[in-house]
Formats: sequence, structure tokens, C-alpha cells
Amino acid sequence: MRKKRVVLGIVGVCTVLLLAELYRSNRIIELEKITIVRENLPEGFDGFKIAHISDLHGTLFGEDNEELAEMIRAEKPDIIAITGDFVDTTSRDVDMVYATARKLADIAPCYFVPGNHEYKEGLAQVAAELERAGVTVLQNEAVELERNGDKITLLGVDDPNGRADMITMDEAVRLAKQREPDFLLMLNHRYSRAEEASALGTDIMLAGHAHGGLVRLPFTDGLVGPSMKLLPQHTSGHYDIDGMDLVTSRGLGNTGWTRRLFNPPHLPIIELRTKQPS
Ligand SMILES: [Fe+2]
Repeated sequence: MRKKRVVLGIVGVCTVLLLAELYRSNRIIELEKITIVRENLPEGFDGFKIAHISDLHGTLFGEDNEELAEMIRAEKPDIIAITGDFVDTTSRDVDMVYATARKLADIAPCYFVPGNHEYKEGLAQVAAELERAGVTVLQNEAVELERNGDKITLLGVDDPNGRADMITMDEAVRLAKQREPDFLLMLNHRYSRAEEASALGTDIMLAGHAHGGLVRLPFTDGLVGPSMKLLPQHTSGHYDIDGMDLVTSRGLGNTGWTRRLFNPPHLPIIELRTKQPS
């Protein structure tokens, strides 16, 4: 009898801990500060700060995402980079996503590249609404960013779900590199394209899509990646990919039935430096 009570007690405690972890992994945003040091970064961009949002999937953190906005506002970023899967109508109302976009655009200039879910939702309408909210949508397009008299190139690589005649990533990089600033910051929904981006001479790539491999256990980079790929790599945080700095956000939301475990919503705040801070 005593043995049965002990077993039931252990099962009860484990259930409570699991439910608490499920709540943390799906509702509590984890802010990760990442410093990227690149000697070829123009001096004027030393201290440039990027708030990186990915894979929100229409999730709400407070009314119109005020909780998320407040965390970003406190960091005073120079720009907000959104690397796709911002909307997801499989489970959520799309209008609140645009209210979130308006709120973010009031904090800092926002740049967005589509993910596979924007194509699913009908990208033309999503892009038009985001532009109306004040977000710059980049589909294989580059813009110049200017700070303290220096410039870098920001390239938004479109998702391969795009139209059949869309230009390829290497063409987009070639066009971006024709611009004068010789420093390339790339936004790309798909973390799995990092090796390709590095080979093309990209300096920094910000990505998402992997959702941190959903379940994060020690000695893994997540258990399940996109398309049910087991033991994916480069799914969370900062990596050196053959000389290119990759930051992969674990994302802030989920799609459909999927849930995260040991894998809280992720908000990377990235600071660029010309040399290692002392
Ligand atoms: Fe996603």
C-alpha cells in the first residue's frame, strides 16, 4: 500500500513538472543576447542592434503582442528582422498579426522575408497588409542600411515556395553584391540554406524555420526538424558556418498540433561589433 502511494506521488510530481515545462516551453519568451564580432564590419555599425523575430505563427503574448513588443522596446534595437512564418491562420486570427506588425514598426524599422506559411496563407495579401503596417517586405530584394555615415547591404531571400520564375538565391546575392556596401546581412527563413549562403560570401545570415527541433534534449540540437527530419543541426542560436555567422531563432510559436518541450519561445537580440568587447 505504501509502495503504491509512493509510486502515485512520483507520477503526480512528474506530471506537474511536465505541465509546468510545457507551459514554459510554449508561453514564456526567452531573450538571448548574441554578440557577433566581424572585423570587416564598417566602423559605423559597431554596436548595431537587431531584434530577431521568427516563426511567430500568429501567437499572442499579451494583447496585440504587447509583452513581446515591450521586451523588444527595452532593448532599443536599430532594426527588427522578421524571418518568416509571422502569420498562420490554421489556428489564429490574422488581423491581430497586423496589429502586432504596426506595434513593431513603431519601435524600429522592420524588415520581413516570407516563410513557407506566408505562401500557404496567400503571400500577396499578407505582404500588402504588412507594408500597410509599415514593414518593409523583401522578396529577393536588397536595401542599404546606413549608420554613422557607413553602409551595409541587407538582403531578404525569398522562400523557395515562390513563383516558378523567381530568381535563385545565388542570383539574389549576386545582385545584392553589385551594390557598393561590401558587407552582406541576409534574412532567410530556412536555416538549412546556411552552407549555400556562406559559400556565396554572405557575412551574417538570420534564419528560423526549425522551431528549435521541437523537443530539446541534452547533447542534441533538437529532436525533430522540418519535414520530420530527425536530429537536425543549427536550430538554435549562433553558429560559425565556414566563416559566416548564422543566427537561427527557435521561433516564438508553433503550427497546428505541434508543441515545444524544453524549448521556450526564442527572441535573439543580436549586437554587431567590429572587435571583441573588453
Ligand atoms: Fe515556422
